Amino acid sequence: MQIGIDQLAFYTPKTYLDLVDLAHTRNQEPDKYRIGIGQSQQAVIPVTQDAVTLAANAAVKIVNTTNRDQIAMVLFGTESGIDNSKSAAVYLQRLLHLPGNIRTIELKQACYGATAGVQFAHDYVRLHPDKQVLVIGADIARYGLNTPGEVTQGGGAVAMTISAEPRLLNLDNETAFKSEDIMDFWRPLYRTEALVDGRFSENVYIDFFKAVWQDYQQQTGRAIADFTAFAFHLPFTKMGLKALRAILPEADETQQKQLMANFEASRVYNRQVGNLYTGSLYLSLRSLFDNATLKPGQRIGLFSYGSGAEGEFFSGTIGDQFDTQASRQWFTDFFGSRQQLTMAQYERVFSQKLPDHDVLLDLSHDDARFVLSGIKHDQRQYVDRG
Ligand code: CAA
Repeated sequence: MQIGIDQLAFYTPKTYLDLVDLAHTRNQEPDKYRIGIGQSQQAVIPVTQDAVTLAANAAVKIVNTTNRDQIAMVLFGTESGIDNSKSAAVYLQRLLHLPGNIRTIELKQACYGATAGVQFAHDYVRLHPDKQVLVIGADIARYGLNTPGEVTQGGGAVAMTISAEPRLLNLDNETAFKSEDIMDFWRPLYRTEALVDGRFSENVYIDFFKAVWQDYQQQTGRAIADFTAFAFHLPFTKMGLKALRAILPEADETQQKQLMANFEASRVYNRQVGNLYTGSLYLSLRSLFDNATLKPGQRIGLFSYGSGAEGEFFSGTIGDQFDTQASRQWFTDFFGSRQQLTMAQYERVFSQKLPDHDVLLDLSHDDARFVLSGIKHDQRQYVDRG
C-alpha cells in the first residue's frame, strides 16, 4: 500500500511588496535581493488574516463532501500561534465543519512543524488506510522593518491531505532526522517578531542538511543518481540553492543540469511569496510539481528544516494519477490578480497590531473567504463569507 500526499493547496493574500522597492528604500542593490537572496516579491499579510484564517482559506480547497468524513485528524504546524493553550486546529475544525470524532492538534518546532504532521500522518494512515489526515503549515514570517531579515519575510498556508493511494506523492518509509538545542532563530513569548543570528542560521541549516542526507543514504543505499529533483525548506530561495550545491558534485554532469533545472522550477512560487516558515518546503514542492516535467515513479528528495533546530530528509515517488493542471491555473490566476503595495502601504499594514481589548476590524480590504473580524471578550472572531 502506498501512503502520501494526495492533495496540496496553498493560500496567501493578494497584497504584496516588490523587493526592488524595498531595496531602493533600504539603500541596497536590487540584485542583492533578486540574486543574492533569490527573492523578487513578498506577500504582505493584513491584520484581518492570522494562522487560522490562512489555513482555512487553503484547506477549504481540498476538504469537501467526498473526503470530509474520512478525515481523522487535523495536525496544524505553525510557529505563529494565536493562543498559548488552545490549538489552532480546533478553530479550523469548526470553520471547515469537520466531524466531531477527530483529533485536533497544533505542532511546534519552528519551520519543521508541518513535516512532523506529514510523518505522523503517514504512520497513522498506515494503521488506518481508510482514513485521511489534514496537515497544515500556516505562518506569518516577521523580522521587523529595517532589519536584515526583512527581505526574507512573507506568509501564507499550505494544506495537505495524507491518504492511502495518494495522487501526488507516495512517501518512502525511510527518513533521516536530527535534533539539537541551538539558538539560531527564536521568538520569545513577548515578541511578535523573530530574533535571528542570520549567518549562523544558514550554517546550521547546511550542517543539518549534510548530516541527514548522509544518514539517509546510509540507511537506504540510495545515492543522488536515484533522484529526479530535490525540494528544500526555502526561507529565501538562495538557501535551497546553497544546500543543493553542497551535494551537486555527487552527480554527473547531465544529472547536475537536470537537478538545477528542477531546482529553478521548485522556487518559482516561493520567489514571489517569500518565507511561509512551516509551509515553505511544501510550497516549493507545489512549485516543483507545477513547473517541472515530472513522471509517475520518479523520486523526489525533501529537506525540512526548523531552526532551534530539527532537520529531516525524506523522499517519495510521483503518484500514478499525478495531475497539475488545475493547480497551475490557480497560480496563474492568483499571480495575475495581485495588488502591489507601495512602501508606505506596506509599512502601515506591517505595523498594524491587534489590540488586547475588544475591537471590530475593517474587512473592506480583504477579499478572502475566511477572515478575522475582531476580538470580543478576549476571543478571536472568525467569519466565513463563503
Ligand atoms: N548582487 C548579487 N548578490 C549580492 C549583491 C549584489 N549586488 N550584494 C550582495 N549579494 C549577495 C551576498 O554575496 C550574499 O551571498 P551569499 O549568501 O552567497 O554569500 C547574499 O547576497 C546576502 O548578502 P548578506 O549575507 O550580506 O546579507 P545580509 O547580511 O543582509 O543577511 C540573511 C542575509 C542572513 C539571509 C538575512 O536576510 C537573515 O537573517 N534572514 C533571516 C534568517 C534566515 O532566513 N535564515 C535561514 C536559515 S534558518 C531557517 O531556514 C528557518 C527559517 O525559516 C527562518
